[in-house]
Amino acid sequence: MKIFLDTAHISEITEAKRLGILDGVTTNPTHVSKTGTSPSELYPEICKLVDGPVSLETVSLEADEIVREAEELAKIADNVVVKIPVMKEGLIAAKRLSAAGIKTNITTTFSPLQALLAAKAGATYISPFVGRLDGIGHEGMDLVRQIRTIYDNYGFETEIIVAAVRHPMHVTEAALIGADICTMAFGVLDQCYQHPLTDSGIATFLEDWKKVPK
Ligand code: E4P
Repeated sequence: MKIFLDTAHISEITEAKRLGILDGVTTNPTHVSKTGTSPSELYPEICKLVDGPVSLETVSLEADEIVREAEELAKIADNVVVKIPVMKEGLIAAKRLSAAGIKTNITTTFSPLQALLAAKAGATYISPFVGRLDGIGHEGMDLVRQIRTIYDNYGFETEIIVAAVRHPMHVTEAALIGADICTMAFGVLDQCYQHPLTDSGIATFLEDWKKVPK
């Protein structure tokens, strides 16, 4: 499973890159607003930093405008993926963009049918928001299972990006289900390699090493 970072912060991307396992980045308008930097300055910098796809989101609500906005975003760098919310106009735009060879990430997805339509529109990626479903008392991972089944049933190549993850168990479940990608906040990524037994195990080894004759 590929690991994406869900952020627009250069410092977090730089640190995640040091781990050597970063496969891509997803941004959204909220992440960008938190940086205090303009997209024109920020987006080229992120795209240059990341060896892999970088999702940049459109904010238009009508298909022609979404396509225009997407074409501008796609000019920023070769690794740009245009992120489009799953709505009627977004799906119309996604179909046209996919025909033009522009990669799309259909986002803010909460139902298997939205995911089916996105795949039929030629979406490169689909982003189900699991944590937000959990937050209203649903089982977010059930949505990922349903999308996996539908895509496998019909051989859709649209890759599933498990998004809005809240903790490492979401990451584990995404991998068990066979999601293609999991995108996560820096804090979640940072938790993924930690374990208290690893910490105590290392501490014991270091203490015992002091007793070894040098
Ligand atoms: C995914 O691509 C989105 O940017 C993100 O996961 C949204 O998640 P949130 O619910 O943490 O805002």
